[in-house]
Amino acid sequence: MSTMADPHSSLKTSLAGVQLSGPIISAAGTGGTATELADVLNLADLGAVTTKSITPEPRAGNAAMRVADVPAGMLNAVGLMNMGVEAFIDGTVPTLAGCNTTFIGSVAGHCVEDYVQVAAAFDPVESLPLIELNLSCPNSSTGRRFTDGPAELAEVVGEVRAAVTNSRLLVKLPLLFETAVPMAAAAIEAGADGLTMINTIPALSIDVDDRTSRLGFGHGGLSGPAVHLPAVSMVQRVHAGVARDAGIPIIGLGGVRRWEQAAAFILAGATAVGIGTTLYHDPGAPRRINRGLARWVRDQNCASIGELVGQLRLAD
Ligand SMILES: Cc1cc2nc3c(=O)[nH]c(=O)nc-3n(C[C@H](O)[C@H](O)[C@H](O)COP(=O)(O)O)c2cc1C
Repeated sequence: MSTMADPHSSLKTSLAGVQLSGPIISAAGTGGTATELADVLNLADLGAVTTKSITPEPRAGNAAMRVADVPAGMLNAVGLMNMGVEAFIDGTVPTLAGCNTTFIGSVAGHCVEDYVQVAAAFDPVESLPLIELNLSCPNSSTGRRFTDGPAELAEVVGEVRAAVTNSRLLVKLPLLFETAVPMAAAAIEAGADGLTMINTIPALSIDVDDRTSRLGFGHGGLSGPAVHLPAVSMVQRVHAGVARDAGIPIIGLGGVRRWEQAAAFILAGATAVGIGTTLYHDPGAPRRINRGLARWVRDQNCASIGELVGQLRLAD
């Protein structure tokens, strides 16, 4: 029987038309460039792996310290350190084929042309069926801020959309409050096939004896448990406000450590769930979360996790 052969068959999902073996996705930048997580977990436990964000040119990243432990999570200002698109295509892409997961190519840059260049290079790559635009990194000092408003967002998404004909296009948003729905609507209108939310939240940790920041760069991005509930709130508001009616899937991302938090993202309206900071200290988490989710789907009398997407009961 197929259920005996695959106890997690109820977790199979489809993200913007791409079939995934499960809803748990490793977040951009938290598992090396692409395949390094295979050293500490079975990639088959991840429905997809998101690559490090890749820019046109190689980037050395910010000065040390780049990460700091803080009470409710982790602070980082890595500064988009990456090998650049040419080395990625020549050196990393050939290693993706044969891995037992799906890859999402993450793109970053300073200007519209940077995003177009990297996305266009990813588009024909068969092992990158999904492309994610990181438009929301809080800790790189130069470049335009594409999430300042719907017009800025629509411009970059629209230009990339025109250059991407093969892959599905995901747009990664930062934590937004009143503007969450209009910004998501602008991304969808400009051609996004899916939305990822959230990126890290701008944060500053101060060593009061030295009167300095704990990070070399100064400000950084907060991730981990502290960001989970705000992320769930944004997923719910965007799903109910625009994504559900537009038929656009969401990857809920932020602070997931246990299956209950992944289930909360699903009920809030996420089709898939990202996991980042937790991978640094608990690489067994995806496997455990899959087990918990499969049990939850059964306990909810559902045949498939898709039946639970957006099924939060919330007073009007
Ligand atoms: C060390 C580190 C590096 C990151 N690098 C990237 C990156 O290259 N591109 C990106 O879109 N997000 C990056 N992120 C953000 C994560 O993908 C994710 O949005 C965020 O950490 C929230 O999820 P989490 O709480 O599960 O970690 C990074 C996060 C961390 C902690």
